[in-house]
Amino acid sequence: MAKMGTSSRVAAAIVVVLGLVLSLAVVCNGGKTSSFVRKVEKTVDMPLDSDVFKVPPGYNAPQQVHITQGDQLGKAVIVSWVTVEELGSNTVLYWSAYSKKQKSEGKVTTYKFYNYTSGYIHHTTIRNLKFNTKYYYVVGIGHTERQFWFITPPEVGPDVPYTFGLIGDLGQSFDSNKTLTHYELNPQKGQAVLFVGDLSYADNYPNHDNVRWDTWGRFTERSVAYQPWIWTAGNHEIDFAPEIGETKPFKPYTHRYHVPYKASGSTAPFWYSIKRASAYIIVLSSYSAYGKYTPQYKWLEQELPMVNRSETPWLIVLMHSPWYNSYNYHYMEGETMRVMYEPWFVQYKVDVVFAGHVHAYERSERISNVAYNIVNGICIPVKDQSAPVYITIGDGGNLEGLATNMTEPQPAYSAYREASFGHATFDIKNRTHAYYGWHRNQDGYAVTADSMWFFNRYYHPVDDSTSAQ
Ligand SMILES: [Fe+2]
Repeated sequence: MAKMGTSSRVAAAIVVVLGLVLSLAVVCNGGKTSSFVRKVEKTVDMPLDSDVFKVPPGYNAPQQVHITQGDQLGKAVIVSWVTVEELGSNTVLYWSAYSKKQKSEGKVTTYKFYNYTSGYIHHTTIRNLKFNTKYYYVVGIGHTERQFWFITPPEVGPDVPYTFGLIGDLGQSFDSNKTLTHYELNPQKGQAVLFVGDLSYADNYPNHDNVRWDTWGRFTERSVAYQPWIWTAGNHEIDFAPEIGETKPFKPYTHRYHVPYKASGSTAPFWYSIKRASAYIIVLSSYSAYGKYTPQYKWLEQELPMVNRSETPWLIVLMHSPWYNSYNYHYMEGETMRVMYEPWFVQYKVDVVFAGHVHAYERSERISNVAYNIVNGICIPVKDQSAPVYITIGDGGNLEGLATNMTEPQPAYSAYREASFGHATFDIKNRTHAYYGWHRNQDGYAVTADSMWFFNRYYHPVDDSTSAQ
């Protein structure tokens, strides 16, 4: 149970009574604040000589290898890597057990950030892949070759099972390493990661020391070279530092991490969509303009009606700053975007929204707050079976530490909250059911500390709340 003081008890009672008077649909039972007590230790970054940051041996060896989806359907993959000694080749050599070796040619880029100069950052898209096929690929041709593999997703369709991992605000601390290890060893094997923003936290270092972008790339390679991570931009990707002459936002992020935004008609890499198996994933940017008439608004306005739920029943939205957050960190930061877009999310029956930013875990009930306007005063979120579940998964483990301070009492719409590092999986079984599980780093790899059976909002829109009815 949530703890509360006398005055807040009275206030809470008034709210509850008013709520009952106003509407029986008002959610009155607060959710669960976990009693799990985490040993509080300082979260510190792994030192530069840590083995997870090791540079691969060999002349001009490719490092920081990472892949992401390269088109809207999952038949293309963007392969990216960095070479340091010299330019090297942009070629990716790839093959499957059923095809001969093929080559694809890409491009190279570099950037400067204050007194830092990047290595040669290669991006090569490989296209026309077969669905549901294991491909091997080689980069570093002509110098030190390194080989990796990935498995393409099954063909898009309504009953295609698929398991997504969910990681946010990862950083590169000892805790970040635990989170990644737990994700890798989770028996609920994630096939692709939905990453909700804040990657390296290099901007926490003097002059945004971009060496920490390189170390992050080497640290995460063990997962992201083998399965795609779907990227969302967070505030730690902005790298806006006019005090050192760096005035182009997102410079390191956009040079290092490419996404297939043009395939979904987007005009910027910060908002875009992909289909993967039975899911339609929309990525939004909390740090790009989203008001009426802006490019992101116009894109989302024409995007949502195009989602064909009989093809992709599961509609998932990723963003960095959460709309529903009951921690005393980043409180209300997502509010202006909520005001703009929440009516659409309810209208188009989004299944789930994943966000990060707050370094803790929280899951909401299905609620909406779309009745409000500036004169009617109706401003309490109400249960709404057309609304998404909102999940904050910003608990990757970065050096800023945990958000432990919560608003009290726990709001009625908050189903479960806990300040622990961890990750989650969203395991789609078919068009009607998906199993969601959150894992805290202190538990064994198979333990879910919070879980929920999701009922699809299009095919099975019945109450899937985990609270007592
Ligand atoms: Fe953030």
